[in-house]
Amino acid sequence: MSVSDFHWGVSSAAAQTEGAILEDGKGASIWDEFSKNRKKISDGSNTFYGTDFYHRYREDIDIIKTLHIPNFRFSISWPRILPDGTGTINSKGVDFYNKVIDYCLEKKITPWVTLYHWDLPANLEQKGGWTNRAIINWFNEYVTVCCEHFGDRVKNWMVLNEPLAFTGAGYFLGVHAPGKRGLQNFVAAAHHAVLANASGASIIRSTVEKAYIGTTLSLSMVTPYSNSQKNIEAAEKVNQLLNNFFLHPILGMGYPLKKLKFLNRIEEVIQAGDESRMKADLDFIGVQSYTREVVKYSWLTPFIKATMVSAKKRNAPFTEMGWEVFPESIYHTLKELSKIPEIPPIIITENGAAFTDVLLPDGTIKDTKRKEYFQHHIEQVLKAKSEGVNIKGYFAWSLTDNFEWAEGYRPRFGLVHIDYENNFKRTIKESGKYYSELILKK
Ligand code: GAL
Repeated sequence: MSVSDFHWGVSSAAAQTEGAILEDGKGASIWDEFSKNRKKISDGSNTFYGTDFYHRYREDIDIIKTLHIPNFRFSISWPRILPDGTGTINSKGVDFYNKVIDYCLEKKITPWVTLYHWDLPANLEQKGGWTNRAIINWFNEYVTVCCEHFGDRVKNWMVLNEPLAFTGAGYFLGVHAPGKRGLQNFVAAAHHAVLANASGASIIRSTVEKAYIGTTLSLSMVTPYSNSQKNIEAAEKVNQLLNNFFLHPILGMGYPLKKLKFLNRIEEVIQAGDESRMKADLDFIGVQSYTREVVKYSWLTPFIKATMVSAKKRNAPFTEMGWEVFPESIYHTLKELSKIPEIPPIIITENGAAFTDVLLPDGTIKDTKRKEYFQHHIEQVLKAKSEGVNIKGYFAWSLTDNFEWAEGYRPRFGLVHIDYENNFKRTIKESGKYYSELILKK
């Protein structure tokens, strides 16, 4: 495959962009509920308006066309399709995604759909959400509805978005929706996510003709802070948790518990026969990579006894999220993945950075740091590819600025600027123009 056959794309997600959370019969999601509490979101904002994608999807797809980006990854909001999570289908929700998909196809942009990008129906959370094993059936029902309604036109599917993030931040740390805490909640949510991932993939396989199926994982290079034995061991534990805890079971290799003894409790939720239900039938793994983690031993940190040393403390360059800018991380991740014999082809389904934009008097937007971030990371991806890693695509995060979860609207990740004060006006940034030119040249 030459670079020109490569899938260049741009990514987004429903809860971060759509808004219209009460419109046309949509049910509440856990993020709608969670962000009602202003204290949970650092700028006190919520999902109410998003970027108004629900009303402006045509404008956004037109922008994607203008930028010559051939692939658009977006997610379906489960409670927009099934307001209670199961049962009655909201036909207006189905209509909305039909319009988005059809408009993409009209513009010759290929839709890539993520089924679960964190916006669980609030009604299902009341029944325990991801901690309740019944979620596998609830999810199967939702996946079936999506495949039946959209599978004639959508061929590229991603089952889950970053299971470690939504189970870790949402069910262990409580800093993301639904705000639950504790190891018991985490291991239950994690195991059910692994099983739902596999069953979701198999439903797509059996209902959508010629489907191309993946799931997405957040993966980062992990480096020990120093060469002390304690720091090396701490880094290895973090590496197993961040990079392998979901990847291994999904590939049929089981949970990597040897170095993560504190997660042995997951065995309490594993039922007879689950081992063979964890492996997912995937055509690709979606890699989402933003930074690297530098780790040192910490007796204070419960369970894992390790802590991250921030880029700021190390005098390393960092983004508005505080994440180190370290392009070699993505290269390293890709090379490590390529050593695993079970690994399917890889697509970078997210990579990007939050930086402050400079609005110039002539109305243009200068975001040189973001442009350089993309440039350097794409170079590393293509380097890994040229060395034989089986990489089939790269999707930038994100099309537009959007609701960055617990950080609200302050961090801006977009190739396109949103003026929230001025009727959600969209302006293509320097980085957007750069990405467009890069795609045209390849
Ligand atoms: C990912 C997530 C995206 C986006 C991005 C930037 O973990 O999938 O929704 O928020 O991080 O932080």
